[in-house]
Amino acid sequence: MSEIVPVPPSIGAGSPNPIVDLGAWRDHYQRVANDPDAYWLAEAARLVWRTPPTRGLDGSFYEIADGPIAWFADGVHNVHDSCVDRHAVATPDRAAIVWEGDEPGTTRTLTWAQLKDEVCRCANALEALGLQRGERAIVYMGMVPEAAIAMLAIARIGAVHSVVFGGFSAESLRDRVRDSGARLVVTQDEGRRGGRTFALKSVVDEALVGAHVPAVLVLRRTGAEVPWSPGRDVWWHDAVASASSAHEAAAMPAESPLFILYTSGSTGKPKGLLHTTGGYLTWASWTHRTVFDVRPDDVWACVADVGWVTGHSYIVYGPLANGVTTLMFESTPLYPDAGRYWDVVARHKVTAFYTAPTAIRAIAACSADFVTKYDRSTLRVLGTVGEPINADAWRWYHDVVGAGRCAVVDTWWQTETGGICIAPIAPATPTKPGAATLPLPGITPILLDNQDRPVRGPGNGRLFLTTPWPGMARTIWGDHPRFVATYFPGPPGMYLTGDGARRDADGYYWITGRVDDVINVSGHRMGTAEFEGAIASLDEVAECAVVGYPHALKGQGVYAYVVLQAGFSASAEVEAHIQAACRTLIGAHARVDLIQVVPGLPKTRSGKVMRRILRKIAEGDTSNLGDTSTLNDPTVVDAILRGAKV
Ligand code: PRX
Repeated sequence: MSEIVPVPPSIGAGSPNPIVDLGAWRDHYQRVANDPDAYWLAEAARLVWRTPPTRGLDGSFYEIADGPIAWFADGVHNVHDSCVDRHAVATPDRAAIVWEGDEPGTTRTLTWAQLKDEVCRCANALEALGLQRGERAIVYMGMVPEAAIAMLAIARIGAVHSVVFGGFSAESLRDRVRDSGARLVVTQDEGRRGGRTFALKSVVDEALVGAHVPAVLVLRRTGAEVPWSPGRDVWWHDAVASASSAHEAAAMPAESPLFILYTSGSTGKPKGLLHTTGGYLTWASWTHRTVFDVRPDDVWACVADVGWVTGHSYIVYGPLANGVTTLMFESTPLYPDAGRYWDVVARHKVTAFYTAPTAIRAIAACSADFVTKYDRSTLRVLGTVGEPINADAWRWYHDVVGAGRCAVVDTWWQTETGGICIAPIAPATPTKPGAATLPLPGITPILLDNQDRPVRGPGNGRLFLTTPWPGMARTIWGDHPRFVATYFPGPPGMYLTGDGARRDADGYYWITGRVDDVINVSGHRMGTAEFEGAIASLDEVAECAVVGYPHALKGQGVYAYVVLQAGFSASAEVEAHIQAACRTLIGAHARVDLIQVVPGLPKTRSGKVMRRILRKIAEGDTSNLGDTSTLNDPTVVDAILRGAKV
């Protein structure tokens, strides 16, 4: 029986949240179940519409092969009306974005009025560079306010942004430029993080060789000399600063594309998940307001990167739609020391804070003084996202950072879901350390066993969601059949999350991690197939298989079993080549933790690699490897076991 942590008494006081206890959660859950259209149309009405929607959901999971679902299809707006313009009128002088740069104390504040001006200038500059409604633009930047400004400016003209995390390599960037058909890239000379600089513009140049991208807008961040293509490259401080701050936001139907975000799956090629404007914004703002119980005077800090979906929904769109000050953080939790987050919290009087379990574990491994020496009395809600949080890390977050006064919310969701799906509602849900707890209203989870039979009551299974909610991705850019095949492969009408989960006797969900070939390293989602493709590209490699394994700090580590070509043997040089291939073909965040050179891979007689066996060995669980007699060469397993790295 796991411990139940009640909601701290002060959390709900003065809350505008309609869900302040479990009774209210039950009531809202039932109301959505009874009439989802009415419930979500009422939430959508909190956005600004030029033509308010009258239609709720069109389509269903059962008919997904016929085409994407739609929400609020007859509504017309621009996300700007809700995210910027209304606040620029109501609270022009309040802080919209507070930026904390890499060096402690380097800060910038943009008021709502300034944000509106900047976005309008940027929109005019982008239009002058030829970007038009419906076209795609890539944002490949670090954590600077201009990244959010660029996203918003692209949306303002009705174009579609695809933000690519600044750690991705030129090769990965090229794939995304090509797949999205982007005609413009916004970047910066270099990024800064943890006291170091990293290349951005030169990576863009490499990625664009042979591509037909006529314009690159470049922000000067560090002042480094960067290569320049006259006629294509334009400085932000020339094009944006001189542009007019008057701009008419395009009128967009609710189902027009807002962004494409690429994410890794079980197969090699990353998928461009498409999110649209009306349903996504409704979900991002409603979940932000509800789960974190935000108030108008809050200073909200989500320390993710805008290159991931967390940054889209909870740095940019959710908080801005809610008119809440949002903090952008350029640095790392450990720079210059393990006190950085709490230094930021104290200086900016942060009221709600959202990070990943990996960061919590890294800081918890240092002295508690790094936390307690800073004033954290403004904090009310502490969130986590991206990977399962172990009970110890949860406890530390609650007891040390929150001093037992704050609500801790472990939020489960995915790039595909657009926003939070299973999580405590801060003032309402008693928590259990390590549990994502209860589904939000509108989210209907189901657990299926290995025979696709529903698990009733407490038990383990693969997690599916059975009813559409407004925030979910509509399709994979340019490939709806792949969307259907990837997410609706099994029992009709069920969205496959790729995660496993346990449901306890109280109906609480505990996410156990991916059950497909996706590895989650420090909250970064990567496909084993991407690693395998990179490693197998080396001349000295005959074949390889990559699996995840439990890692104390990073959640999961990457374990590569590599078969070398005849004439090659294990060496530091081979290892260096493997790391370099992953860095070059995927990105700087793609590091292999353990490399084992093996004589062969365990395969069935039909040639299928038995990944289950490799996973067990990597997990150090070798007591029961299952039936190996069907293997083509069972002796391979003994050889692998002898050389196992764990
Ligand atoms: O495995 C789950 C894990 O992260 C995956 C989604 O990754 P991504 O699309 O990159 O989005 C990350 C940020 C939303 C999920 O399939 N995950 C996310 N949140 C949690 C989690 N696993 C356990 N607990 C969570 N709170």
